[in-house]
Amino acid sequence: MKGARVLVAGAGGDLAPAFLEALVRRGAEPILVGRNAEALTERAERFGARSYVADLADPLSTEALAEAVGPVDGVINLAGAFAAAPVRSTDPALYRRMIDANLSSLFFLARAFLPALAKRRGFLLGVAAAAGWHRGGRNLGAYAAAKAGVLALLGAIRVEEPRVRVLALVPMAAIDTPGNRRAMPDADPAGWIRPEALAAAALDAIGLEGGRVFELPVYPPGA
Ligand SMILES: NC(=O)c1ccc[n+]([C@@H]2O[C@H](COP(=O)([O-])OP(=O)(O)OC[C@H]3O[C@@H](n4cnc5c(N)ncnc54)[C@H](OP(=O)(O)O)[C@@H]3O)[C@@H](O)[C@H]2O)c1
Repeated sequence: MKGARVLVAGAGGDLAPAFLEALVRRGAEPILVGRNAEALTERAERFGARSYVADLADPLSTEALAEAVGPVDGVINLAGAFAAAPVRSTDPALYRRMIDANLSSLFFLARAFLPALAKRRGFLLGVAAAAGWHRGGRNLGAYAAAKAGVLALLGAIRVEEPRVRVLALVPMAAIDTPGNRRAMPDADPAGWIRPEALAAAALDAIGLEGGRVFELPVYPPGA
């Protein structure tokens, strides 16, 4: 990981600081990408990194991003969104938001960056979720479909791009993020996954010598 240029997309989100810290600790150079310029600038300063604003659900935006960023050794896509609703009453806009944030972001990032990743024998990491792993869940139709799509998409890329290490990271429970603490004030975070543990597991899996981890389900302590 030392000296690797690693694009971190969704870098303004809750999970990003743990990944950025882990990357910097391992000697990598993170490059931050997101939609919220203010949040990105603050984080980029904190990690001594460059940042780029892009809408990852827009293929023209990801192509322009790849052009601007230049060669990278890794892409970590942390972009995503969550909402719950029964399928029969899901607003079409909510459905499209789940697909765009969770799945289209990964598809268009992969499309734009795979040539560079293959050239440098790099890696691509996407984040699924328990709902995608289990192929569903009550009130999770749009979210689960998007996250199952993440697994299917990464499976296709794994066989198409033998020079790229592909990792599907699958948090099997809630992560202890500020957003989840706000959304579930009565829940006990001790039963959640620690962001630092998730980031360390993912980077260890990517750096594995002599083999490849493709899908990595991560459970909270005690599960
Ligand atoms: N937190 C959990 O418990 C949990 C559990 C399982 C899986 N995951 C997955 O882990 C990943 C990171 O989670 P998180 O908690 O960090 O989520 P988060 O705090 O909601 O951050 C997600 C980030 O993605 C960005 N994003 C969404 N759509 C985008 C687009 N079209 N272009 C560019 N950026 C876009 C968001 O930007 P804006 O702020 O502009 O919307 C936000 O900064 C997500 O894929 C999530 O589904 C999380």
